[in-house]
Amino acid sequence: MISDAITKTGASTQFQVFPLKLHAALLPQLSTMLYSIIVSLGWGASALASPWSLVPRDKNPLYRNASACVDDRVEDLLSRMSLEDKVGQMFQQMLRIGENYTVDQGSPGNWNSTKAMVLDKRMKHFNLVGTVDDARRGAEWYNQVQKMAVEDGLGIPITLSSDPRHGFGLTVGASLAPGIFSQWPETLGLAALRDPVLVRTFANIVREEYVSVGIRAALHPQVDIATEPRWARVYGTWGEDAHLTAELITEYIKGLQRDEIGPRSVTTVTKHFPGGGAAQGGEDSHFTEGQNATYPGNNLEYHLISFKAAFKAGARQIMPYYSRPVGTDFNSVGFSFNKEIVTNLLKDELGFKGIVVTDWGLVTDGKLGKFPWPARAWGVQDATEGERATMIIEAGCDQFGGEERPELVVDLVKSGRISEKRIDESVRKLLKEKFLLGLFENPYVDPDEAERIAGNAYFRNLGEETQRRAYTLLSNKDDVLPLKLASGSKVFCEGFNTTKLEARGYKLAENPEEADFALLRLKPPYDPRNGTIVGAFGQRTGTLEYFPEEKKRQAAIYAAVPTVAEIFVDRPIAIPEVVEQTRAVLASFGSSDDAFLDVVFGDAAPEGKLPFDMLRSDEAALEQMEDVPFDTRDPVFKFGHGLRYKSACEASKGHSCQ
Ligand SMILES: *[C@@H]1O[C@H](CO)[C@@H](O)[C@H](O)[C@H]1NC(C)=O
Ligand SMILES: *[C@@H]1O[C@H](CO)[C@@H](O)[C@H](O)[C@H]1NC(C)=O
Ligand SMILES: *[C@@H]1O[C@H](CO)[C@@H](O)[C@H](O)[C@H]1NC(C)=O
Ligand SMILES: *[C@@H]1O[C@H](CO)[C@@H](O)[C@H](O)[C@H]1NC(C)=O
Ligand SMILES: *[C@@H]1O[C@H](CO)[C@@H](O)[C@H](O)[C@H]1NC(C)=O
Ligand SMILES: *[C@@H]1O[C@H](CO)[C@@H](O)[C@H](O)[C@H]1NC(C)=O
Repeated sequence: MISDAITKTGASTQFQVFPLKLHAALLPQLSTMLYSIIVSLGWGASALASPWSLVPRDKNPLYRNASACVDDRVEDLLSRMSLEDKVGQMFQQMLRIGENYTVDQGSPGNWNSTKAMVLDKRMKHFNLVGTVDDARRGAEWYNQVQKMAVEDGLGIPITLSSDPRHGFGLTVGASLAPGIFSQWPETLGLAALRDPVLVRTFANIVREEYVSVGIRAALHPQVDIATEPRWARVYGTWGEDAHLTAELITEYIKGLQRDEIGPRSVTTVTKHFPGGGAAQGGEDSHFTEGQNATYPGNNLEYHLISFKAAFKAGARQIMPYYSRPVGTDFNSVGFSFNKEIVTNLLKDELGFKGIVVTDWGLVTDGKLGKFPWPARAWGVQDATEGERATMIIEAGCDQFGGEERPELVVDLVKSGRISEKRIDESVRKLLKEKFLLGLFENPYVDPDEAERIAGNAYFRNLGEETQRRAYTLLSNKDDVLPLKLASGSKVFCEGFNTTKLEARGYKLAENPEEADFALLRLKPPYDPRNGTIVGAFGQRTGTLEYFPEEKKRQAAIYAAVPTVAEIFVDRPIAIPEVVEQTRAVLASFGSSDDAFLDVVFGDAAPEGKLPFDMLRSDEAALEQMEDVPFDTRDPVFKFGHGLRYKSACEASKGHSCQ
């Protein structure tokens, strides 16, 4: 390998020696030749300065020796890295798959090419955006990118990460479509099943599918506690109870990482420290209006319970949230800028020794579609980019998420603002993770294996079964469910593909008035915030009640025909009128149309119990405190509520039917 003979400090992929540009293929011979001259002349490395730098090196450097101890390998590699190489490790940016699974060429003015980031910017950590809908081609794409990294410079492999991609949430910047992978309910659905063994199985499957296509880091679990019902990100949590969350995420982390981090592990980034749940007014801190985390109940401690469990389970990486604490003794700046949070609380008090990666986009202003999107530098908006980066490093963070500004940090080191020793501290941890994941020994994946593993029938079946089981039956008047309709009955349908319903022998009704029954799959209520950046981002936030016109529209259906309503309960929505006016209400936490029909007609039975209290109204949301669980007045349904089908109870002889 070229890189074993030459250390280059420049950012170009061509090797500039004197005024000559050399073709890479000539370099091995040339470098051997130069090496002999250097050795025979007795030059030391110090004699080799600008404009070119050529340092003789061992053929088998210690860092490449798989039998050597990892800490020694890290030190050896670190000693060979330029400042640019080191700082490149401290950035993790989004990576796209190019058209037809080619290496992405970038989009001028929008995003940079893979090559520019991997080679010029020396970056080796990326989160995959976009769907993998073909395992073989996904694996082949990954191998191409990896080859670029491995054949360059010191041959440091990339680590590919991902936001969750096994559910239904599909919120920009928070989760992705599953594509080829098996599809499961959201984590709220796993919380509804209260089954630690199932969570471990799920995590093992996520790990196997990820690893098969080269994803080795999970930007999850999201262990925030859903104490604020309006918050758009409740859907990615494990509910309102910190102790249930702690129990389940322990299994999740162990499933992804395994007992020891190793060549088949996925390292986890537990987020968002110290809990994103206390969002003031329920607004999310991706945006200016949601920048405050607030603790009117003085209850920050409750939000740390799940993090303590994650540390005990061996969580290797942590992501602080965007929010800044207000009304506390802490400095009121964003958590990643906050030394009191990252160094004093996280590291000193809670003893966390792993990697701290910031949430995405804290330094550089950007845009989202037509909207300007300022850096999430809450509390430090007036600081320069360099000052922001300095604060993040001084707070104790190791890596900048969603940024690609190595030159900014290189300048901070060159100007003496940040010491290289401090850079080394973070880079050491980041390199160690790559060694432990076995990426130096096995940088590539096997496309055959990817095809066999990702989305195989067994994984898919378990995911589909879990979608069905996680359904939570909120109401069921006169045991109308499971539904028994005479063949040929006319059904008014909304919100799903009716082909399979017709295949069951029912007819479709054009309108409620001529129907014998109605089956509705309803979207949950939220404020679409049309014409704002929040709306463009697609967050389901704000109101927990349907708008008055929608209530009226639904009421007309319910008055005309007996109805079963099913709703994707992504937050503790306030739907007392739906419960009152329908025959039955099913809460889904992410499920397919097939799963819906199976549960309605009794081919599968709902087993879920609510992972949070469901609110009575928006007024009740205003009255409760952002940081306190289970403090809503007169909830329509309590945490743990979930009815059973009579038939399922009878079948399970003696088991509690609740
Ligand atoms: C690799 O490291 C092991 C353990 O330190 C050592 O015994 C071995 O000689 C090394 N191999 C090479 C090729 O340097
Ligand atoms: C992608 O594949 C399609 C179909 O083979 C082809 O028409 C198209 O030109 C390809 N695009 C690129 C960028 O290779
Ligand atoms: C692409 O890289 C250039 C050069 O470093 C930088 O100025 C620009 O901000 C980058 N683009 C994005 C979208 O980050
Ligand atoms: C955040 O809290 C600060 C301090 O309490 C307050 O001045 C500011 O108005 C709040 N910002 C928002 C967007 O609510
Ligand atoms: C509905 O489902 C059937 C098969 O189940 C499928 O063939 C059809 O394309 C689907 N229709 C839509 C609009 O997705
Ligand atoms: C928001 O926009 C969507 C279409 O983009 C539209 O259907 C909806 O009625 C709008 N809602 C409000 C409250 O303006």
